[in-house]
Amino acid sequence: MSTFNAYMALSGAYDADVARNEQLSHYTTYRIGGPADLVVTVHSYQALLRTIDTLTREGVEWVILGRGSNVLVADAGYRGCVILLGREFSKINFADDGIVSAGAGALLSKLVNETLSHSLTGLECCVGIPGTVGGAVSMDAGTRHDWIGSRVVDLVTLRPGDGLHRYEGSEIEWGYRYCSVPTNEIILEVTFELADAEKDVVAANMERLIARRRKRQPLGKPSCGSVFKNPPGHSVGQLIDSCGLKGYTVGAAQVSEVHANFIVNRGGAKAADVLSIIQHAHDCVAEKYGIDLACEVKLLGFDA
Ligand code: EPU
Repeated sequence: MSTFNAYMALSGAYDADVARNEQLSHYTTYRIGGPADLVVTVHSYQALLRTIDTLTREGVEWVILGRGSNVLVADAGYRGCVILLGREFSKINFADDGIVSAGAGALLSKLVNETLSHSLTGLECCVGIPGTVGGAVSMDAGTRHDWIGSRVVDLVTLRPGDGLHRYEGSEIEWGYRYCSVPTNEIILEVTFELADAEKDVVAANMERLIARRRKRQPLGKPSCGSVFKNPPGHSVGQLIDSCGLKGYTVGAAQVSEVHANFIVNRGGAKAADVLSIIQHAHDCVAEKYGIDLACEVKLLGFDA
């Protein structure tokens, strides 16, 4: 493979920003992660196609990253290309009838704020969740009781090598942190159906959810949100907490004192520190309860 050839082919006069050896700590909410060989921010559909074609031709592995809010990147970084969805994928459009289209690269927080400005209800469950629209939809983000997927009327993906594909929201299977769109497809645009509501009511719902998160989650410190998924019938925060792990520290990574399913970076934490805590928490819960916790956070670069 040749990342250098890919870099040369992608640099220059086309609608993308191309960088080599970028520290991925700048692109993750953990503030952790070594360098990626390439980071390409594509600003148009043509640029995305050209980038994927070039990387495929040069045998360079690639991955789409949103705002890096649910990913742990290895200290050694990623031997491949991180693709970020830029300008053309960050637009949000409101039609008259509660139909809202958002590019996958748009910030979820921007979308949620704009639904409030338009007095629309339906996405309050996403208030306070970091990341992009594409990332949120791909994992059906939300609260325990309400998820973004229930508001999706359709979405458009790119099947690399096979063009665009459109899904009706109803033909997608949505579940707890699960969406049945194949992971090798790139979500490009999502259309939601929301309902008119009193702005004060929408604002009050959002404030209640934000207040709840502020009280129960360590929002002020770098983290990736929930580390493990709740196993059926259990709260993973409670399980880890009951193993006495709140405050458990490796290097500069720590099981949050506020919520035991969050690992926070206290400043300069290594991915290895976080991973070691993940393994320890997993093993403690397995030993005490016989439950095999599944990670919600995605790992990048650990096989390299
Ligand atoms: N609990 C403890 N100790 C802890 C943490 C929680 O005993 O350290 C107990 C709480 O007292 C409560 C129960 O566990 O009785 C559930 O906790 P909480 O209400 O905080 O919700 P959660 O199930 O831990 C889920 C999502 C969050 C989402 C909240 C609010 C998962 C793994 N987590 O948390 O999602 O914000 O509900 O709806 O599904 C995320 O996915 O990144 C995330 C933050």
